[in-house]
Amino acid sequence: MNDYLRSHFGAKLLLSYLVIVVVGVIVLILASQFALPASFNRHMGMMDGGMGMGNGMMMGQNDNSMPQLYIDFRASFNEALLYAAFAATVAAMLLSFFFTRRVIAPVQAMSQAAQRIADGRYDERVQVSGKDELAQLAIRFNQMAEKLNQIESMRRRLIGDVSHELRTPLTAIKGSMEGLMDGILPATDETFQQVHTEADRLNRLVDDLQELSRVEARAYQLDIRSVNISSLVHTVTKRLAAKAQAKRITLDFDLNPNLPPVLADEDRAIQILTNLIGNGLQYTPEGGRITITAKQVKDEIQITVHDTGVGIPSEHLSHIFDRFYRVDKSRSRQAGGGSGIGLTIARALVEAQHGRIWVESAGDGQGSTFAFTLPVVNR
Ligand SMILES: Nc1ncnc2c1ncn2[C@@H]1O[C@H](COP(=O)(O)OP(=O)(O)OP(=O)(O)O)[C@@H](O)[C@H]1O
Ligand SMILES: [Mg+2]
Repeated sequence: MNDYLRSHFGAKLLLSYLVIVVVGVIVLILASQFALPASFNRHMGMMDGGMGMGNGMMMGQNDNSMPQLYIDFRASFNEALLYAAFAATVAAMLLSFFFTRRVIAPVQAMSQAAQRIADGRYDERVQVSGKDELAQLAIRFNQMAEKLNQIESMRRRLIGDVSHELRTPLTAIKGSMEGLMDGILPATDETFQQVHTEADRLNRLVDDLQELSRVEARAYQLDIRSVNISSLVHTVTKRLAAKAQAKRITLDFDLNPNLPPVLADEDRAIQILTNLIGNGLQYTPEGGRITITAKQVKDEIQITVHDTGVGIPSEHLSHIFDRFYRVDKSRSRQAGGGSGIGLTIARALVEAQHGRIWVESAGDGQGSTFAFTLPVVNR
């Protein structure tokens, strides 16, 4: 019985209704026992002093001396009480039955859906009807299922993408080694250099993947403090100056000297800027120019990296921050072997610091402009 009660919501509800009925009946009995005689006495006394109530005799204290009228009244009262208790019990049963069905059915549906999701069927959803708390729960449940579905498909895509990315350099290394073993490829420095380059590419890819997973899982600490944008830009441009010089690209900046400080993690902000300027250097031909500007827009500082490089056709713009996305796979391979992770990491880092990042480009050969924001320190 106890177990049944514990595992059935409907039984608990019925029991609570029955308790209310019993308490009601007890209250009525107690009232009829103690309050009724005096009240009857008073009313009858008021109606007619001779009805036997006003003779100093208190009813209920001595049943034998009670007038017949009161005895009859009490009997009919008890009978009515019995009918009322019976009707209340039936009402409690019906109510608990209907109420249970209304509550239990959606909860059961959710429980079954949860079970199916646990079994790996992430497209499972429950029907939402009405607007009450149960409907809210169903909406939240469906949102959770949707999120799980997205994570699952992201996971699948990631595994597919990673295998694909790993396969290319591995195939190249294997091909070179087989050529060497069969004597088809000469054992020259150039051949070894090729193998080394591919191994290097693999190494970089694994490093990038590790960083991406750390950043996307937010498995790192942000050290947010007040950061001066100008000194940040100077630090990054100084670091990349040699690379720019080697490619005969001019690094330029246009910074307002009165920029307020931003709230950011300095190292992560440097990483973002290095990534964007690094891309600029990679995708801008010799003799080009990269310009870095920073200006305040409302309560944010907007940092822009503009290059005069190869540009990005408009159909690629919306995908450019996606994982492993490259506009022209062969181009980025020749140009130093990008894996299309850099911008994904940059976006995750910007968003973790409450900023936004976007790209603009007029198209092929027209240069590109990458911009991101960081919040100004509130004073
Ligand atoms: N400044 C730019 N000009 C033109 N195309 C760019 C520029 N920056 C990025 N792209 C395009 O966006 C793609 C994604 O850039 P992302 O930095 O994410 O990857 P990547 O540079 O290819 O590789 P890595 O992960 O090593 O950075 C690049 O492959 C390139 O096609
Ligand atoms: Mg890059």
